Amino acid sequence: MIITGKYPKLRMRRSRKEDWSRRLIRENTLSGSDFVLPIFLTDGKNKKIGIKSMNGVYRYSIDNISKIIDKALKNKVPMIALFPHTNTKLKNVNGSEAFNENNLVSKAIVAIKNKYKNSIGIMCDVALDPYTSHGHDGLIKKKEILNDETIKILIKQSLMQAQMGCDVIAPSDMMDGRIGYIRSKLDEFNHKDTIILSYAAKYHSSFYGPFRDAVGSKNQLQGASKSSYQMNIANSDEALHEVALDIEEGADIVMVKPGMPYLDIISKIKNTFKMPTFAYQVSGEYSMLQNAIDQGWLEKEVMLESLLCLKRAGADAILSYSAVELLKEFDL
Ligand code: PBG
Repeated sequence: MIITGKYPKLRMRRSRKEDWSRRLIRENTLSGSDFVLPIFLTDGKNKKIGIKSMNGVYRYSIDNISKIIDKALKNKVPMIALFPHTNTKLKNVNGSEAFNENNLVSKAIVAIKNKYKNSIGIMCDVALDPYTSHGHDGLIKKKEILNDETIKILIKQSLMQAQMGCDVIAPSDMMDGRIGYIRSKLDEFNHKDTIILSYAAKYHSSFYGPFRDAVGSKNQLQGASKSSYQMNIANSDEALHEVALDIEEGADIVMVKPGMPYLDIISKIKNTFKMPTFAYQVSGEYSMLQNAIDQGWLEKEVMLESLLCLKRAGADAILSYSAVELLKEFDL
């Protein structure tokens, strides 16, 4: 028998043998500080409403929101992301509720800042889909989603959120050029320290379904496609192009969405730009795993694994619906 290589002198299993040595050679970790917790908002009082397609995730009325924020803080989660479930009566073709100073998101920002000051960051989505009667992220004319006209509204929405006290403005709409316009509007009104987190590489994915239930845009969309603005799932160079443009326009943080099916994209972006790069484990990913865990088909460790893999790929932080439960469950 011809023996090649370094075995048996070198044995990779040596350092895997004991828990202490496994911990020593560990390359990546997860902790509370790696997460952003998305929170769904609903109007009304004393509400905590379950979302059928997202077991374990709820919509909270503003007076109830500290229930979940306290848990996030206790587990050292640095930031929450607010998503409103808007009453259908308030939706219209132009999504004008998006810049109503009294909308759910505004009220929530004010209430949270009052109570928690700067102990936790607040991130808000910039896009029109929770507010439009057609469920699209932008304005629509003869079935076309209008880019430049939409930007004008996104600027208003962003400025209002910043004025209410939002720390991180997160455009998730995929209109061209919006980051630059939003940055200059924020600066003009002296919100020069407001961070912009761009959903820079956001794909036209089928993993967003449960989220659309949660914010109530699914019925509005009636099966309409967002493929004229979200990225083609087949592309990867294009993601680098998108990210390069958003950085040039002033994005402080860039995000890849969804997460687990797009590890190659996260890795390329992180390696190319060396910028803060976030990943979003989206609703469909969460639901698949959580459902299988609830059924007993998969161990609960799969959730941890899927999130750790996002970090290994290069994500600096992760938006995850399971952040709090996970941090409670595991000693990370
Ligand atoms: C809205 C928005 C979406 C998500 C975040 N912001 C849905 C969409 O683009 O249709 C998806 C998040 C998730 O699925 O968890 N622009």
